[in-house]
Amino acid sequence: MQKLPAAPASVAEFAHLLRAGGLAAFPTETVYGLGADASDSEAVLAIYEKKHRPRFNPLIAHCANLAMAETLVSFSPLARELAQFWPGPLTLVLPKRKGAPLSDLVTAGLDTAAVRIPGHPLALELIGLVGRPLAAPSANPSGRLSPTTAGQVVAGFGGTVPVLDGGPCRAGVESTILKVVGDDVFQLRAGALPREEIEALIGKKVGARPEGGGVMSPGMLASHYAPRAGLRLEAAEPRDGEAYLAFGPVPADWRGPLRNLSAAGNIREAARNLFSMLHELDGTGVAMIAVAPVPTAGLGEAINDRLARAAAPR
Ligand code: TXA
Ligand code: MG
Repeated sequence: MQKLPAAPASVAEFAHLLRAGGLAAFPTETVYGLGADASDSEAVLAIYEKKHRPRFNPLIAHCANLAMAETLVSFSPLARELAQFWPGPLTLVLPKRKGAPLSDLVTAGLDTAAVRIPGHPLALELIGLVGRPLAAPSANPSGRLSPTTAGQVVAGFGGTVPVLDGGPCRAGVESTILKVVGDDVFQLRAGALPREEIEALIGKKVGARPEGGGVMSPGMLASHYAPRAGLRLEAAEPRDGEAYLAFGPVPADWRGPLRNLSAAGNIREAARNLFSMLHELDGTGVAMIAVAPVPTAGLGEAINDRLARAAAPR
């Protein structure tokens, strides 16, 4: 659980808290974000817990400048053109770089990452001082309205999250999300940057979110992170020919491919390991991954949601 430190008194102290793996809310031009070091899985997990978010939706990595964004994703010429809107209320979904300093929980196991440079001086100063990208969804408990003042964040979380107060947000709605695929641009979410402005800059149409055009907007699809192998859920024991994703004890005579989400049955450890272990077992080339039952309390809800999506027919 998150320890509640003394409230930071300066941007530097907020940066210190975030570098140490803590959570802090910060202002952007769109809405307040609930931030954590995007490279630190433990810190990113704390975001989900604090929001009571039942699903691992991928998160936006907030950067201080283009150089920082380039450590995470590759920019095509078109993406570079779109980056002229930065700092500003635009999020770009781009191919994730190999070895990018990003927790799998930020990308939810996808090979793309969502990045943006927010147009708020305090946000830029804070991220610059942290020196690493900040993962941040809106700073509200899941299912509630996005906050546009520090007071709303304090009220939403009952005072348990330190808030860097930057006054009311200028835009008040979330960033526009675009996915760049080759020479084409698709809008995954309408937001604070109007489509017309984008089209005027690039001199071409922004497409609608394509139906069935691959994983475009992960949170909304039944089959999200889809391993190549099938998934057999609630498997108390693996069968010959399968790989086994365990949670807790493993049958003593099991010799097949094995990963254990948490030998100790710790749900946070399981959440941290989920995407990477699925990837690893999928990489063994088996046709079926048997997955042990995972309890549904706390982060278990998000884990089971993701497992169900990964197992969904496609
Ligand atoms: O204005 C904003 O964007 C605010 C402030 C705090 O920056 N943040 C925000 O985050 O709205 P959130 O978590 O509510 O929305 C992030 C969206 C989700 O709908 C998620 O599915 C999408 O970004 N997303 C993230 N990574 C993606 C990816 N690799 N591919 C497609 N969609 C992605
Ligand atoms: Mg939100």
